[in-house]
Amino acid sequence: MARASVQIAPSILSADFSRLEAQIRAVEAGGAEVLHLDIMDGHFVPNLTLGPAVVKSIRRVTRLPLDVHLMVTDPLAFAGPFRKAGADWITFHQEAVTDPRATAAAIRDLGAKAGMALNPDTPLEAAIPVLPDLDLLLVMTVHPGFSGQAFRSDVVPKVAAAAAWKAEHHLRYALEVDGGIGPETAPEVIRAGAEILVAGNAVYGREDPEAAVRALLQVAAEARETSAPRPPR
Ligand code: DX5
Ligand code: ZN
Repeated sequence: MARASVQIAPSILSADFSRLEAQIRAVEAGGAEVLHLDIMDGHFVPNLTLGPAVVKSIRRVTRLPLDVHLMVTDPLAFAGPFRKAGADWITFHQEAVTDPRATAAAIRDLGAKAGMALNPDTPLEAAIPVLPDLDLLLVMTVHPGFSGQAFRSDVVPKVAAAAAWKAEHHLRYALEVDGGIGPETAPEVIRAGAEILVAGNAVYGREDPEAAVRALLQVAAEARETSAPRPPR
């Protein structure tokens, strides 16, 4: 059974914000199909990034789906404003909420796709009751908060387990990985079943972000070719 192609979701956290439009055009030209926007509130994580006003400006300059990753303590307080600003996908952290199923439902009620993220130390078991309600499962391969951290290969078995669970239960969530993904680490997450790769430093930390996206897509295509096809279930 052929596997769908892997998508690259550049994270603008490492971009040059003084020329953000050009930086977005570059990754579009390189073949990125999603734009990943990291929202941090200085409370859930020790860093502060962008709010709905910036997302609204980004929405005006790109047609790429906006994948909004909320690293915030109160995702429901912000889901509405980010949706209004143009978010297509809204992802909250499992660790931030008491009722993940209700949070996912509230996001879907806003007309957005609902995603849930798991920190590296949160087991897949914590997500299992919610998985049927999700459009996206984001497996963090670094502890959230900053770009440019080292990839945690100890999380790869969780990516594989999430892919296996999805196939076994015929679920629809897209499987995204985030943190330390680059040409060296992409193959192992793809072989584990990752479908969307977030890349910050590996794209915007390079001289030529367009070429960096192309290179990641090339690595992804090669990794898929060498992956064993999953057995039909
Ligand atoms: C980390 C963010 C990531 C980050 C990825 O807290 O959620 O999206 O920007 O950056 P890299 O790819 O540099 O680890
Ligand atoms: Zn992110």
